[in-house]
Amino acid sequence: MVFEMIYELLNFKIFGDHNGKLVALEKGADFPFEIKRVYYVWDTGKDVVRGKHAHKKLEQVIICIHGSCDFILDNGHEKVKVHLDNPAQGLYIKNNIWREFTNFTPDCVIMVLASEYYDEKDYIRDYEDFLREIKK
Ligand code: TYD
Repeated sequence: MVFEMIYELLNFKIFGDHNGKLVALEKGADFPFEIKRVYYVWDTGKDVVRGKHAHKKLEQVIICIHGSCDFILDNGHEKVKVHLDNPAQGLYIKNNIWREFTNFTPDCVIMVLASEYYDEKDYIRDYEDFLREIKK
């Protein structure tokens, strides 16, 4: 059986010179979906575990703008840990992936670009429900 890729790492083009670095994200060939929502997370304790959910439909690109943290991604068959510490990289996660994120440095800021508006009905917050959902 072939399982879907759990994630993709997108490498963004950096416009850099002696004034510093800049990344620009626009709908189109370089970005996998039309962005409908942006949110960001910061001031998170090192051992806090956020996430602990999957989404039925939502796709996200997660960028660690500053500092670092770890994402643990699980498709119900395998689990991978991805360390994020590069603002020029985006962690692209499609639907039906259980995610937890932790091990935050005190300066960590995570920005999330989402393909849909916020919808609590799109969340799967129970791991057993998640396993049932992916068998459908
Ligand atoms: P949640 O998605 O559970 O956070 P995380 O996965 O990072 O641990 O969201 C935390 C709270 O914020 C929850 O009460 C819902 C609210 N929220 C919104 O209102 N809009 C949003 O776009 C997001 C992501 C969360």
